[in-house]
Amino acid sequence: MFKQIVLVWCAMVLAGAAKAEPVSSAVADPDARAAALVRQMTPEERNLLLHGFFSRPNPINKLPQIGAPFAAGYTPGIARLGIPQLAETDASLGVAWINGKRARNATALPSSMALASTWDLKIAYAGSAAIAQDARASGLNVLLAGGVNLTREPRNGRNFEYLGEDPLLAGTLAGETIRAIQDQHVMSTTKHYALNAQESQQSGIGVNISEAAARESDLLAFEIAIDRGNPGAVMCAYNHFNGPFSCGSEFLLNKVLKQDWGYRGFVMSDWGANHSTADALAGLDRESGEEFDAQIFFGTPLAALDGKDPAYTSRITDMNQRILRSMIANHLFDDPPEIGMPDIARGEAAARTEAAAGAVLLRNNGILPLLKTAKRIAVIGGYSNIGVMSGAGSSQVAPQSGPALAIPTTYAADEWQAKLLMPGAPVKAIATRAPAAQVIFYDGAYPDLAAARARQADIAIVFATQWTSEGMDVPGLNLPAGQDALIAAVAAAKPHTIVVLETGGPVLMPWLDKTAAVLEAWYPGIKGADAIADILFGDVNPSGRLPVTFPASLDQLPRPSLDGLYDFDPRVAVNYDIEGSDVGYRWYARKGLTPLFPFGFGLSYTGFRYDNLELRSEGNSLTASFTVTNTGNTQGRDIPQVYVTSRGNSKGQRLIGWATVELAPAASTRVTVEADPRLLSDWSTQRQRWSMPAGRYDVTVNSSAASVSLAGSTGLEARLLPP
Ligand code: BGC
Repeated sequence: MFKQIVLVWCAMVLAGAAKAEPVSSAVADPDARAAALVRQMTPEERNLLLHGFFSRPNPINKLPQIGAPFAAGYTPGIARLGIPQLAETDASLGVAWINGKRARNATALPSSMALASTWDLKIAYAGSAAIAQDARASGLNVLLAGGVNLTREPRNGRNFEYLGEDPLLAGTLAGETIRAIQDQHVMSTTKHYALNAQESQQSGIGVNISEAAARESDLLAFEIAIDRGNPGAVMCAYNHFNGPFSCGSEFLLNKVLKQDWGYRGFVMSDWGANHSTADALAGLDRESGEEFDAQIFFGTPLAALDGKDPAYTSRITDMNQRILRSMIANHLFDDPPEIGMPDIARGEAAARTEAAAGAVLLRNNGILPLLKTAKRIAVIGGYSNIGVMSGAGSSQVAPQSGPALAIPTTYAADEWQAKLLMPGAPVKAIATRAPAAQVIFYDGAYPDLAAARARQADIAIVFATQWTSEGMDVPGLNLPAGQDALIAAVAAAKPHTIVVLETGGPVLMPWLDKTAAVLEAWYPGIKGADAIADILFGDVNPSGRLPVTFPASLDQLPRPSLDGLYDFDPRVAVNYDIEGSDVGYRWYARKGLTPLFPFGFGLSYTGFRYDNLELRSEGNSLTASFTVTNTGNTQGRDIPQVYVTSRGNSKGQRLIGWATVELAPAASTRVTVEADPRLLSDWSTQRQRWSMPAGRYDVTVNSSAASVSLAGSTGLEARLLPP
């Protein structure tokens, strides 16, 4: 029943946002087929699927001999039983380049933060379907995609791989990407389960949070993603969770995931996150990247317990059952991938749409869109004569044509933490759209010289980058390498200064008031330069909305200094009960803080008005209907957001739904958004259920978390949601 309600809500959001693509045919009875295979396994075969290795060439493995493709993870199949291999690639933003060892045949999509800024299910679907098709063409059948960790920490180096700070937005989009991947008959994964919100002391960090706060925030994002996408696998994280490691957490794995959510797929460890054979009893089903663990816990030591210890014997049966069930249900047996050339054009079209819809216009004093007849444009900084920034780590993609530039960091230019620029130079894209203009480029090394160039031009466009990566956090939110001083100098010299940001997440903007416009393009992928130029010149009307709050200063954060950043002690504890489930905008609302830019914020070249709010409530359902009108003279896409601001006696802001609408000038449409009842509830640890308080529910329709357009209230009775 509860799932049905969620489906209705999803359908309503889809009606506003996008039509779902057809879901592929379900496989008949994957449980029975899996069970039949498990019964036929020899004692030796019962151990083969339970561990896998990092599939890149090294002196000891024999990849070519066993036919393994370069991949992040590999488990050979069992030919006697017709069981295919598992060939797993990272794929958050495209088929990853396996730490520099696989450099072609992939589309580099924009960052997940950019995707989240679209708030658009259809765009999420199209991008992930393209990634899955690229993966099939490389012979890969499992994607390590579906990252849904909430942005609790804006300095987290992996925020670009995740979908922002709100559990409903992040969970829904992650679910849609998983659905898209699995519709292509490629298994998907959601990760990193759970509360893996920073990279500093990634493995040693001890996360502490109360059950209710976790269930109402980060775990809810996973729950929504799993409900919607039903991924074949869940990847448990590196960090400790309230004591044990996540991959050995009985609470996270056996209790929440498998028992409470009824999850029937399998849990794989992150690479190096398995710490004991006993993790199997806590609910871990597969050891990944086994060479990263202290020993191969799920190899010989686990096999030795099979048939001897009843607890392990029954778990090993269940572990095989879960892995095989996911493989069968996702067509890995009956529709194997075929190696060939991927459809790069399809991927690039999806990448361009996503980059354009995901860029967020943060400031515009009227300078944008630029006239195509501008005479002299100074383009400064951000490697904008070469390409656009991307984030590093295991998710790094090298596109079909290779990176435009690979800059070595601590690591070599072809290793996992190189700084890669995606091809497509913004300078060129700008020059193409302003053929009558003289476009001058300067790299921005010296602010004075940049200011002099800007002074001589009609308009200055400064590109600024913040490179982030897996394996490290940023120490603060100022732009690195003197770029704040560069922007300040240029803006002082030329009031007509436009700043284009290519960042992993939020940054501070001490120069904001001096600029004419600011566009947050995130890491915009292979078609980023075109998408940015399309917006600057008005070929695309910007429509992205922030999926994260931009703080005004670090003092506003629940933890002004980042735990473990400069600490060599691997056992650092982090207290997430400070903000609890009030992550991001909810923390700002609770504390009465005014951020630099609120969650949900983004400008357009047109305006929108909301009218005639009607609220309906019945049982555990609450719907908000209202009219959206385009009040300007340009066609545009809007994302009205519905929040609850108090429930019964408890105050607190929560996003309960949104719509995406595309409207011609002066056109109106009526939108209905149904709340996910979990967002109307609190988690009752005592009853182990979602509990909706009785009383008045105050609801607002907003253009961002901080700007209310319509307000109303309705009543609901107390109830416990069905399990
Ligand atoms: C990352 C995972 C990734 C895995 C395999 C780990 O370092 O945390 O997200 O899927 O490597 O590359």
